[in-house]
Amino acid sequence: MNAAAPGAIVEVKALTKRFGGLVAIDNLSLEIRTGEILGIVGPNGAGKTALINVLTGFYRATTGTIRFTGRDITRLPRHRISRLGIARTFQNIRLFRRMSVLENVMVADKRHAIAPIKALFRRGHAQADVARAMALLDLMGLADRADHPAGGLAYGDARRLEIARALAGGPRLLFLDEPAAGMNEEETEELVADVRKCRAMVEAIVLVEYDMALIRDLSDRLIAMDFGRKMAEGTTEQVFADPIFMRAYLGLEPDDG
Ligand SMILES: Nc1ncnc2c1ncn2[C@@H]1O[C@H](COP(=O)(O)OP(=O)(O)O)[C@@H](O)[C@H]1O
Ligand SMILES: [Mg+2]
Repeated sequence: MNAAAPGAIVEVKALTKRFGGLVAIDNLSLEIRTGEILGIVGPNGAGKTALINVLTGFYRATTGTIRFTGRDITRLPRHRISRLGIARTFQNIRLFRRMSVLENVMVADKRHAIAPIKALFRRGHAQADVARAMALLDLMGLADRADHPAGGLAYGDARRLEIARALAGGPRLLFLDEPAAGMNEEETEELVADVRKCRAMVEAIVLVEYDMALIRDLSDRLIAMDFGRKMAEGTTEQVFADPIFMRAYLGLEPDDG
């Protein structure tokens, strides 16, 4: 009962999310496999963010089930889901603008919430926490701005800080909601390298993105969504070779080059 399908860290079955009369996610089944970067693409309003919101407990599923490492998490509140090891970034950057870059990472580490009293009496915990947060900033290329206010960061750096914050609790699964939105070409290229670094730190990444070059570079598998449903699914190569996908998302005929 509690066993996960082999290779799947998440199994979603017949998931539906309604907002009044609007069906944002429509009877969607999918799995997220251990070790993969799963790309999710689709036009505005397709239900991509709603899917992240339901899988991370920000919204409650209307019907359907979500299993994480075999465990049913469909009805768990989001702080419990977060503690199990599911983290996300937001389509609209959410940082504490007046706090330092370092503090932003430290307050995001949900491990403090598990045993706050124990943590209080543990000697030297603060130093270990600082070191861990600094290591994440280093990974994201932000260590030199650790004591700057987060509100002063350039756009690409703010997005990178979002990712560092999401990694702070040591998650097993990471959702990135349009990490390249608003980035220029150079920032997007750096983002590709950053997401590859994240890959080594988590068991799977789900990447929601419009930038098709980024999706193609990073994703092992792809799911194309529209109207809350799955329109195409397969390896990235397969989906990019799919004529329906090419017309809908790239406006191209499949053999246009
Ligand atoms: N909190 C909400 N309340 C009402 N409708 C919502 C809410 N969140 C999303 N929706 C609707 O659900 C559909 C899917 O939205 P969303 O998941 O944000 O799309 P995407 O991220 O693919 O652009 C849209 O029609 C949107 O208006
Ligand atoms: Mg969205």
